[in-house]
Amino acid sequence: MRRQTVWHLLIINLMISCVSCKVANNEHQQSLKELPLKEDEEIPKIINERYNPKNQRQELDLDELNDIERQDFELQDVNDNEDGRYVGYCKDAYILMWPGNSRKFWSYGYVYLNEPYLANCTMRYYYNTRNYPGDPFCRFGFKVTGSFESHNGPYTQCTDTDYVLLNDTDGNAQYYCGEQSTIEWATSHNDFEFHFVTKPNSPRGKGFFVVIQSFKLCGGAFNMVDNGPTGNIYTPLFPASPYPPNIACTWYFAVPSTDSKEISVRIGCDTFSLQTPFNNGTEYCLDAVTFISEVPGNIKTYCGNTLDSKNHVVIGTHADLLVTFRSDTTIQDVGFNCTYEYILYAE
Ligand SMILES: *[C@@H]1O[C@H](CO)[C@@H](O)[C@H](O)[C@H]1NC(C)=O
Ligand SMILES: *[C@@H]1O[C@H](CO)[C@@H](O)[C@H](O)[C@H]1NC(C)=O
Ligand SMILES: *[C@@H]1O[C@H](CO)[C@@H](O)[C@H](O)[C@H]1NC(C)=O
Ligand SMILES: *[C@@H]1O[C@H](CO)[C@@H](O)[C@H](O)[C@H]1NC(C)=O
Repeated sequence: MRRQTVWHLLIINLMISCVSCKVANNEHQQSLKELPLKEDEEIPKIINERYNPKNQRQELDLDELNDIERQDFELQDVNDNEDGRYVGYCKDAYILMWPGNSRKFWSYGYVYLNEPYLANCTMRYYYNTRNYPGDPFCRFGFKVTGSFESHNGPYTQCTDTDYVLLNDTDGNAQYYCGEQSTIEWATSHNDFEFHFVTKPNSPRGKGFFVVIQSFKLCGGAFNMVDNGPTGNIYTPLFPASPYPPNIACTWYFAVPSTDSKEISVRIGCDTFSLQTPFNNGTEYCLDAVTFISEVPGNIKTYCGNTLDSKNHVVIGTHADLLVTFRSDTTIQDVGFNCTYEYILYAE
C-alpha cells in the first residue's frame, strides 16, 4: 500500500472518532500529564450488596463502557458463606479497568471488618486496561502502591510464608511479605497479575491495601484545533525514571489542510538522552525516535544525544507527522521531553 493511502485511512479514522475524542483531546491539552486519580466513592454502598455470580468478569462491549467502573467495583465484591459474613477473594478473576482510572483494593477484613486476612487463600487477579476510545495512540500502564502487613513468623523467602506478588508478562515480578512491607510497583504493560497467597496455618496479619492506577504511559493523537498550539510529549516515566525496556510509543500529529495557509509542526527537545548508538564504522540506533512525515523520503531517526538542539523543525505542509519511540531490551536512558508547536504561517 502506498504511504499516502495509509495516511488517508488514518485521517479518516481519526475524523470518525472525533465525536468521542473530546475528552482525550482535553487531556492532551493539559500537556500529557498523568490522568487524575479517581477515588472509589461507590464501595461503601456496594459492599453491602450480596454477591451475585452474574457480576463475574466478562469481556465487555464498548457500548457498556459507562458501566465498567461500577462493574469493576462489583467484582471486588465477595462471596458470603452460610454465616452471612463476607469471605472471598480467594479465587481467580479477570478485572477490566477503565483506562486512566484507579481503585482501592484490599484483602478480606482489612477495611470494614478490621479482621486479619484469610488463611489458606490463593487469589489471582488478572488486571487489564483497554485502549482509550477515540485515541488509539494512547498507551496505558499500571501503578500499584500500598502496603502489606503480614506476621513476624520466620521465613527465608516470601514463598515460604504469606505474600503478595505483582507480575507482568515480562516477568517483572515483585514479592511482598513480612510484618510490614510497602508496595510500590509499576508496569508499562496494559495488564498484570496480582496474587495473594496465604498458608493454611498462617498466624495471619492485617492484610494488604493497595491503590491500583491505570495511568497514561505515552502516545496520543493531536490535531491543531483541539490540541494546538503547543504542548509536550515525553518518554514513559519521564523524569522519575529511565524509560522502560522494550516499549513502543506513537504520537500522531494531524496537520489540517488549508487552501491558503501553511501549517507545520515544530518539535524541540529540552531533554534528549537515549541509549548511545552502536558503532562499527556506521552508527545504528538501538533506542530511537523516528519522525515520519508525509513527504516521501522525509524520515529521520535520532538516538544518543543527537536531538539536543532545541530547534528540530519538522515542516509539515499539508502533511501529517508521526513520531515514534522504540526502546530495546538493553540499557535504558533518561529519555526525552519535547515541546510540540503548531505553526500557522501567514499568507
Ligand atoms: C511472571 O510472569 C511470567 C510471564 O507470564 C512468568 O514466566 C513468571 O514465572 C512469573 N513469575 C512469577 C514469580 O510467578
Ligand atoms: C486449603 O484450601 C484447599 C483448597 O481450597 C483445601 O482443599 C484444603 O483442605 C485447605 N486446607 C486447610 C488446612 O484448610
Ligand atoms: C555493523 O553492524 C551492523 C548491524 O549489526 C551490520 O549489519 C553491519 O554489517 C556491520 N558492519 C560492519 C562493517 O561490520
Ligand atoms: C517537559 O518540559 C517542559 C518545558 O518545556 C516542562 O514544562 C514540563 O514539565 C516537562 N515535562 C515533564 C514530564 O517533566
